Amino acid sequence: MHARDFLANGFAVVDLGIPESEVVWLRQVLLDLVRTRGTDDRIIIQDLVPSDGPASRLTQVLEPEVLRPRILRSTAHRSARSLAAGLLDSDAADLRFFGHMMLKGPGGVAVPWHQDAAYWAQGRHRALSVWLPLADATIAGGCLHFVPGSHHGELLPHQRIDVEPGILLEAAGVREEDAIACPLRAGVAAVHDCMTLHYSGPNRTSLDRPAFIQTFLSHW
Ligand code: NI
Repeated sequence: MHARDFLANGFAVVDLGIPESEVVWLRQVLLDLVRTRGTDDRIIIQDLVPSDGPASRLTQVLEPEVLRPRILRSTAHRSARSLAAGLLDSDAADLRFFGHMMLKGPGGVAVPWHQDAAYWAQGRHRALSVWLPLADATIAGGCLHFVPGSHHGELLPHQRIDVEPGILLEAAGVREEDAIACPLRAGVAAVHDCMTLHYSGPNRTSLDRPAFIQTFLSHW
């Protein structure tokens, strides 16, 4: 069912059967890594949007699996890898993988419309990302939105937005009226193709919106 949705729309909602205790653990991993920033240079933690207060509003942790290899043995990872292998028609062991975690705090800004492929300068990949909310992702809290079928189109031109120390990219010519919101319960994932246009809204709630994003790539 989700394979058909994924092919037709470029995204699908998938319950990977992740135990609630594991969702709680992953959320704690994210919060711990953010709290201990700067104490281990193997991990990169970026505040993507400068904050005007002491609290970080949009914080990205790159490759949390490097410091917390237990992530690679989790149901969240193993089920996502197996899902990706099926959707990319590839052997699970051959897929390249990297993870990142995003913490969008209260007042956190939107991540602009983009296709993930725009972030990868060279190479032609088949790739997808499994986006797993570690707390309920509501419309008010800044869940993902997708443009169904946009993965069938070309890579759109993207404008670079510098948000020291990182960058964000914004696609030009997005038909936002075609987009649909994708609120998710904690622990239920949405998988999207690297060509699917997506965006996440601002966080207008008083709660954090933590998420674990797993990207899988297969060369063609
Ligand atoms: Ni993205």
